[in-house]
Amino acid sequence: MVALKCIIVRRIPNIFNKITTFILIKSNYNMEITQAYIQENRDRFLNELLDLLRIPSISADPAFADDVRKTAAVLAEGLTHVGADNVEICETAGYPIVYGEKIIDSSLPTVLVYGHYDVQPADPIDLWDSPAFEPIVKKTEIHPEGAIFARGACDDKGQMFMHVKAFEAMMKSDSLPCNVKFMIEGEEEVGSENLGVFVKNNHDRLKADVILVSDTGIFANDVPSITTGLRGLSYVEVEVTGPNRDLHSGLYGGCVANPINILAKMIASLHDEDNKITIPGFYDKVVELSDEERAEMAKAPFKKEEYLKALDIDEVYGESGYSTMERGSIRPTLDVNGIWGGYTGEGAKTVIASQAFAKISMRLVPDQDPEEITQLFYDHFMSIAPEGTKVKVTPHHGGEPAVTPIDSVGYQAASMAYEKTFGKKPIPVRSGGSIPIVAMFEKELGLKTILMGFGLDSDAIHSPNEHYGLFNFYKGIETIPYFFSYFSELLKS
Ligand code: BES
Ligand code: MN
Ligand code: MN
Repeated sequence: MVALKCIIVRRIPNIFNKITTFILIKSNYNMEITQAYIQENRDRFLNELLDLLRIPSISADPAFADDVRKTAAVLAEGLTHVGADNVEICETAGYPIVYGEKIIDSSLPTVLVYGHYDVQPADPIDLWDSPAFEPIVKKTEIHPEGAIFARGACDDKGQMFMHVKAFEAMMKSDSLPCNVKFMIEGEEEVGSENLGVFVKNNHDRLKADVILVSDTGIFANDVPSITTGLRGLSYVEVEVTGPNRDLHSGLYGGCVANPINILAKMIASLHDEDNKITIPGFYDKVVELSDEERAEMAKAPFKKEEYLKALDIDEVYGESGYSTMERGSIRPTLDVNGIWGGYTGEGAKTVIASQAFAKISMRLVPDQDPEEITQLFYDHFMSIAPEGTKVKVTPHHGGEPAVTPIDSVGYQAASMAYEKTFGKKPIPVRSGGSIPIVAMFEKELGLKTILMGFGLDSDAIHSPNEHYGLFNFYKGIETIPYFFSYFSELLKS
């Protein structure tokens, strides 16, 4: 074995047909050690993740600022401990970005791993079966081996941490086949504004051949998939103001515009009877998929009955002419995320509120531009405001949609890696979620991202009782070293 270990991956010209082949003996041998290391350290890996999940790194709520920063510090320490060099907590105008790297040979390929250590707020906390920041492992129907229940378990601490542990395993087994850089941010859930600035100012430091992200999912635990597209986002807050004060609904009801009635009416008018969005120009830049592409998508084993059952609904609902899979990925949407105003306390209070509010998200698809869509929304929403009201539209963060090609070396390496660990070739699936920095990475760094996620849609990310399967956590740690290995080999050939 020692002798074998010394045979470094090397090209040998084939004298018969001049094809160049590789000897993979060393990498195969070391991969066994890598995988054995992962198996031996399973429990410790889990416990370390549970510790990370105990810190409430909620980026949206300033009350948790110290915890967000503490998470960055713990992560930086963890990266250093497992052998990353130049680990730095890079300050930004907001929360820091944790950077670390291992450059083994500058002539080898480099994988840039991106993830986020911030999490969504836990509310509504009453709906959690166990406290959001006191992780526990419980078995579920979908996760018979057990799942970790905690805010951030899947999105994205659990998935980001798989990379740290996969890196540890490669370091400890002397099998890291290329260079790796980590860039883990703390503001993904609030729009990644400062990451954009960091990336712009660090082109050299972030030089790489591919970006690898685990912040998406797979179709099912027995149907591995690779995410090939993400939707973009335009997010606005609207405010309708009527009279200058709350009014008695008997004395004034029927005589003035009720901001809540008006807001409800305006929102309802944003979809027509086919559930198409009525904002003029909204669909102008939407790329329609070809019949072949749609037929390809329809091959995914989507089971409507299971979908309905899991959500406890008796029918799906959406844009006519499209399947549920299509509605949730290749079609744009408009959804109210929150709506408030007036009296919502105990009992009945007869009042016409002075103001009504709503938060509205629009998920976008190629080639819709978030700024353009926000403008279209603004123009339209203002135009439908009736007399007797004042309307305000405030844009929040947005993000561009992204598609990743399936004919790239990165995709091929990811596909081979999943096939190796799941025993099945993964299918390409476009996702409905958004990771705005993926489009930004391409613009700024000229790099494509490989979305190697391991979560499930049913993991309740952003919801009460978020969880992440132990199967998925370990499968991720096992799959990542194969990606590194295949990617390095494919790029060298
Ligand atoms: N990890 C998610 C996005 C995601 C989840 C994509 C599952 C595909 C599958 C990410 O953390 C997220 O929540 N993104 C936000 C957008 C952001 C600007 C707040 C989203 O999609 O709502
Ligand atoms: Mn995420
Ligand atoms: Mn998220």
